[in-house]
Amino acid sequence: MNIEKAKIILKENDQEHVLAFWEQLDHAQREQLLTQIAELDFKSIARMRCMLEAGDVVDQSASQPVPPQVLELSVESRANAYTAGEAVLRAGQVGVLLVAGGQGSRLGYDGPKGAYAIGPVSKASLFYFHARKILALSNRYHVRIPFYIMTSDVNDAATREHFEEHHYFGLNPDDVIFFTQGMWPSLDFEGRIMLDQPGHIFMSPDGHGGTLSALQQHGCLADMEQRGITTIFFFQVDNPLVEIADPAFIGVHTAQQAELSIKLCAKREPLEGLGVVVERDGRFEIVEYSELTHDQAHQRTDDGELYFKYGSVAIHLFAFDFLKQEALRDMPLHIAYKKIPCCDADGNLVTPLENNGCKFEKFIFDVLPDAKQVVNLAFDRAEEFSPVKNATGNDSPATCRQDLQLKWSRWFKELGVEFELDKSGLPVLPLEIDPVYAMNAAELRARGVLLSGSRCSGFQAAGA
Ligand code: UD1
Repeated sequence: MNIEKAKIILKENDQEHVLAFWEQLDHAQREQLLTQIAELDFKSIARMRCMLEAGDVVDQSASQPVPPQVLELSVESRANAYTAGEAVLRAGQVGVLLVAGGQGSRLGYDGPKGAYAIGPVSKASLFYFHARKILALSNRYHVRIPFYIMTSDVNDAATREHFEEHHYFGLNPDDVIFFTQGMWPSLDFEGRIMLDQPGHIFMSPDGHGGTLSALQQHGCLADMEQRGITTIFFFQVDNPLVEIADPAFIGVHTAQQAELSIKLCAKREPLEGLGVVVERDGRFEIVEYSELTHDQAHQRTDDGELYFKYGSVAIHLFAFDFLKQEALRDMPLHIAYKKIPCCDADGNLVTPLENNGCKFEKFIFDVLPDAKQVVNLAFDRAEEFSPVKNATGNDSPATCRQDLQLKWSRWFKELGVEFELDKSGLPVLPLEIDPVYAMNAAELRARGVLLSGSRCSGFQAAGA
């Protein structure tokens, strides 16, 4: 890209102000700005501007959403599904996809969220727990399980370094595939691209919906195809309780020939930050918590239960063909009004006190209405979901470490091993189990290190 070409493109797109400070820039700054302009996705920017112009329009013709049918597995059907899912895993047809483009800013942590130290004993990172579960599954089923990790420009280098520093947590580096999501500019209320330095456009990640186009663009879909992957397990970085590639989930998904399957749990309270699954005109949708109306969030049935009771915890299974098909589609945009640091008319950085612009994001779950066959599967929250989102209070590192230890204690209890507990029911000594050591009570039993009826004051199996 040269300056003449940049001028033409910016004029065509009504964004000529991006070059307002061109004369003041040195050579390196000019190069940087030209590179940024060359990478701008003007097709999406045009969609953003249309959205801004249209304002908050509510589609009056849309039918009212209703709660979806949710599948709950009996012990017997879970066992059958588990066996069926194991066959898919054993055939090497499962890949794992993690979206980890976000930073730990809500946690007050300045780094990739996945590098956050969560291990109650080892202080191992979120990435450690995810990677070790994949390694455990590879060992259990004697297969390679590719692990696709989506990062963003904000944290890509730091994420790769974290994996290298920890020797990929024992995984084969050839099976850990990093790819970066797209970055988008923010627009002011007039639809103008915002600069945060005279020679620099303010950019932020395009949302985890950017996964689809990024998978395509970075050759990950081709890699999946070449490896014979039919089923992709999708999850978010912040939940170390996740049952990665849960065989029972895979079994149901496969038996029902679903294009997309979703794990759901009952919301803790009406305003909990979970997207809710709804059904509208025979299709499923996820309405993000920030977009659910107050009435929808609080509506109750005659029994006093929340009408939209089930939240999605962003644990999904995708059929490969569906993922491939959706990667070619323009996804809906979601708008967030923000305070965006930007340059004033003299090129000085201003930190606004009020919202001054908009960020746009794509959400992966917006592909849901396209799926012809969907499984909505209920799961036990205590076993599978305790995310690290806030520095304190609900969904914080403290509650997550507690839930991890409660889960591990339950395995010991199943084997007849009791711990000395404190008042909150937690083991007095911190407890941690490396997923490669055991992923459930049965694997712990198979380790043969425990005697039924024994009593421990603590047990640590942290680290490999
Ligand atoms: C998210 C879901 C919500 C779900 C909840 C469950 C969205 C928009 N909402 O809310 O429906 O019920 O989790 O815990 O996702 N990420 C990227 N790139 C981005 C933005 C996010 O990779 O551009 C990743 C993050 O690293 C994280 C995940 O997506 O792994 C979720 O992002 P986050 O902002 O934490 O979503 P929540 O508001 O918690």
